[in-house]
Amino acid sequence: MKKIILFIGVYLALCQVVFSSEGRQVKSINFDWKFTLTNPQGASAKAFDDTKWRTLDLPHDWSIEGEFKKENPSGTSGTFLPGGIGWYRKDIELEKIDPNTVYSIRFDGVYLNSDVWINGFHLGFHPNGYLGFEYDLTPYLIEGKNTIAVKVDHSKLPSGRWYTGSGIYRNVWWETKDKTHLLEDDLFITTPQVTPKKAILHLVASILNQKKRKAKVEVQLNILDKEGQLVSSTVKKYQFQKQQEIALDFEVENPNLWSPKSPSMYTMETIITHNGEEIDCYSTTFGIRKVEWKPNEGVFLNDEPILIKGLSNHQDAGPLGVAVPEDVLYRRLKMLKDMGCNALRTAHHPFAPEFYTMCDTMGFMVMDEAFDGWWNTKAKFDYGLHFEEYWKKDLETFIKRDRNHPSVVIWSVGNEVKGYTNEQQKLLVEEAKKWDTSRPVTQGRGYKGDHIDIAGFNGHGEFKNVLEKYNEDHPQKLIIGTEITHTLQTRGVYRTKTWYRTKDNPAPWEKPEHFKKLEPKIYKIEDLSEEEVFEGISPKYQSSYDNSIVRIGVRDDWNRVEQMDFYVGNFRWTGFDYLGESFNWPARTANFGIIDLAGFPKDHYYLYQSLWSDQPMVHLLPHWSHKGKEGVKIPVVVYTNCDEAELFLNGASLGRKPMNESRQIVWQVPYQKGELKAVAYMDDKIQASKTIKTAEEAYTTTLTTDKRVLQADRKDVLHCEVSVVDQNGVFVPDASNELQFKVTGGGHLIGIENGDILDMSSSKYDLNRKAFNGRCLLIIQSNGQKGNIKIEVEGEGLKSQQLIINTIVL
Ligand code: GAL
Repeated sequence: MKKIILFIGVYLALCQVVFSSEGRQVKSINFDWKFTLTNPQGASAKAFDDTKWRTLDLPHDWSIEGEFKKENPSGTSGTFLPGGIGWYRKDIELEKIDPNTVYSIRFDGVYLNSDVWINGFHLGFHPNGYLGFEYDLTPYLIEGKNTIAVKVDHSKLPSGRWYTGSGIYRNVWWETKDKTHLLEDDLFITTPQVTPKKAILHLVASILNQKKRKAKVEVQLNILDKEGQLVSSTVKKYQFQKQQEIALDFEVENPNLWSPKSPSMYTMETIITHNGEEIDCYSTTFGIRKVEWKPNEGVFLNDEPILIKGLSNHQDAGPLGVAVPEDVLYRRLKMLKDMGCNALRTAHHPFAPEFYTMCDTMGFMVMDEAFDGWWNTKAKFDYGLHFEEYWKKDLETFIKRDRNHPSVVIWSVGNEVKGYTNEQQKLLVEEAKKWDTSRPVTQGRGYKGDHIDIAGFNGHGEFKNVLEKYNEDHPQKLIIGTEITHTLQTRGVYRTKTWYRTKDNPAPWEKPEHFKKLEPKIYKIEDLSEEEVFEGISPKYQSSYDNSIVRIGVRDDWNRVEQMDFYVGNFRWTGFDYLGESFNWPARTANFGIIDLAGFPKDHYYLYQSLWSDQPMVHLLPHWSHKGKEGVKIPVVVYTNCDEAELFLNGASLGRKPMNESRQIVWQVPYQKGELKAVAYMDDKIQASKTIKTAEEAYTTTLTTDKRVLQADRKDVLHCEVSVVDQNGVFVPDASNELQFKVTGGGHLIGIENGDILDMSSSKYDLNRKAFNGRCLLIIQSNGQKGNIKIEVEGEGLKSQQLIINTIVL
């Protein structure tokens, strides 16, 4: 199949170029790849016949398309989904090849063990599934048809302790550059001096000349602010044969400083000309900010103290696996932003490049993690098998890739590294510092080594007195909760007696007798009632009150952060439920997230919001549809960031209470159906209120989308939230009706998810799904066709609904 790549249209809007070569252009080549989940002989050869293979668009994850099966060797770690060997092929038609141009292909991420060929020539092998790589194609290209073949070998599982996905699951780019060009990976902008009045920036960069003749170039460097206004500019002339290093300082008056609250970005534009003709133009974005980590005082951003209000996350997006469109990533990050979260940890590997760009512009600080383990494998077939050969190069690629992002404030070189030594930690930290000394280095549970700058504590730091003792012994080291706290909750599920994982549903490596040993060290939580109010809940589901914990609850831990200056904040485990690490068949995960697999918030979302956000808010739980519990006292919990809250049942006040050290306000309310309302006050003024109502029988569904219009570009994605409601439109919180979905016209369903960790329906192909506690999510992507998209939802015993979404062509 012929694909014509037309290299017209200017990718970098800032450059006005007349090329003698094709110049610097970056073009997505995600569409129309051929794919087979088999391993045919000779598939690397140009002449191989792939016409019978499936045609698909990247990013693509074949594991999530598979069936959950108990016998799949990915097991609990990989959420019982299949691996295998897959091949991708694509033809690129070149009308002409320019002798002054370098042609290359860049993969942002392929899981795992990829081999790439062009026209039958082997370009390389890349074992790391989380870091991008680039191959120079120039010597192998011909005018006419060129064929790229990629073999992805994920046949040995488990290859990770979490769901990894399989395939070319990130973007692929076709790039051209003049043979004299800026080496973008070497470009590094630091901000050695930052004050509100003036910032000094330091730039290092290098230019490569692959032409035979000496390069005589003029380099213009422009700094533009977020409105595109020029704030500083300089021009330099260079003559060199092979490579020219550049080191320059710039001053920016009255800089707009980057912070999570005000994520101002700048652009550095590098324009290279030869004899007055532009041969390269490269733009990189950066931010101006000062981050200081001061022993026993905390973290200071632009001279202001700041707490790390962070979350660890894995990269999968539930039903989409690891092939995550930008709109899906954006929806996830936006939810976290609205919750008051200001920091994210990339557990336990580099994320997709667009993640960091969004963190820059949306305002998140990032703890950027390179590896999980080092030389010893943690999963039988993980990167540990390749560590010795690849770690140095991969660490360099990783740091160079991410070091211009102002969002990245700290590097992590590992997580719970099995059997690491002080010497090994030294090697890793020193290597990281070769590429960046402007940020500190930590390691998840790496506090035992001497070489990390900031002591990272995981679960062990959740026990009483552990952090205090460490601080006594190491007053010069700040502590960060690299993975604190671990609590579990299932959306819409409540238990009034406190649940401790080690006692009530021990993880595979925990024995029930452990609890006795651990009990004195745990921050216990008082039961909300003497007798359990909500009996009969599966032990695989956890309560959404803050009372299902491993070692410490959210509220006790946040009190520690606020009270101990040496404990600068934490990255909770986790923001979103993630695939994998399920406790056993049949379960897809273990419910650590404060947002479920569909992206529906659990009550913990609002608990964090009350602790982290400045926007006045109030939330109350549980729901108020408890048929059969009339007269039974139900603990009603209110989270708010205001001073006081008042609860009303059917219009009658049940009292006004102040917020207290336990960070929640509780009423014991004898159940009667009707309306429960929480009102929050600050300085006696009403700031926020929320009402929940008792639902009657399920009657129909409501469909709510995050977009009214979709671009017909095969990329744009919308989310459609389906809620089961009664005849009055009241949400039915325990509805589990079987729903059927149909999407026709200009879009197709790429994911269906109800958030139930025990539902093992195929994420992609089952068009029926039970509502889980009243909800289900549809993820719909443009299929490129113009015209409307029709979404239809039918349900067992429910009135059907439909929604029309328009598509547009830009
Ligand atoms: C930690 C580990 C995480 C995750 C978590 C689950 O020990 O670092 O990756 O496995 O436990 O409790």
